[in-house]
Amino acid sequence: MNDSFNRETREEYNRDFFNRWAGKYDHFRISRWFRYTQELTLQQLDWRPDGKLLDVGCGTGHAVVVAASRLPQGKACGIDVSPAMVGAAVSKIPRELAQRMEFREAGAEHIPYDDNEFDYVICTNSFHHYHQPQQALGEMRRVLKAGGALVIFENAPDLSLYTWVWDKVLRMFEKGHVRYYPSSELGSMIKEAGFDDVKLRVFKNEIWKHGKLFASIQVWAARVPVKSNGSVRMLGE
Ligand SMILES: C[S@@+](CC[C@H](N)C(=O)[O-])C[C@H]1O[C@@H](n2cnc3c(N)ncnc32)[C@H](O)[C@@H]1O
Repeated sequence: MNDSFNRETREEYNRDFFNRWAGKYDHFRISRWFRYTQELTLQQLDWRPDGKLLDVGCGTGHAVVVAASRLPQGKACGIDVSPAMVGAAVSKIPRELAQRMEFREAGAEHIPYDDNEFDYVICTNSFHHYHQPQQALGEMRRVLKAGGALVIFENAPDLSLYTWVWDKVLRMFEKGHVRYYPSSELGSMIKEAGFDDVKLRVFKNEIWKHGKLFASIQVWAARVPVKSNGSVRMLGE
């Protein structure tokens, strides 16, 4: 079996897995945890009312709804590889925010937006499913404006043995799971994609919080370098 066949089969499995999960995604005990992690991620951004945000691997779109409500003159968009997740997200768009929200079915490796379109890109609980993570990071950088902000929320296998073992178990039994990255590796990958100001904003274990028994988390923030011609405005200026 060649690598590309193996990858495509796993990507298909990934899509099917999330298609099946989509209808129930907001109704498990763990859903509270996912919402908490999305809000923690959004807290890392310097909000500008006319900003434009993209959530990569948005699931049922909770973070996109929250973002749209914080961007009264801006826009919040989400992409996800699972059509059922995108369908669930679209069905939940609040009427009053509909003009400022958009969801598209797409993979992180081929983001269907132009270069320099967004002020913010977030990615929560999704990066460990990407078969071409470096390409996905390159895409996130491409669609961000100069000075634009990236925030990634992931599990941290270097913070606890439990998460390290859980990663191995998932790799064996869940074909759509690629891997959790130790924090030093994820930070290096973000730098390698051409981001500046790469900072590990949150790095901690959480015990019995928001419906989750235990979790080790890392939240990274980074920026697209501002071009030296001085014509580009930094976010928050
Ligand atoms: C655990 S859910 C996280 C959803 C949401 N971001 C959250 O924090 O609750 C992972 C999501 O990533 C999506 N996903 C997996 N691989 C993807 C890829 N290559 N490109 C885009 N989305 C992907 C799945 O379809 C799923 O909706």
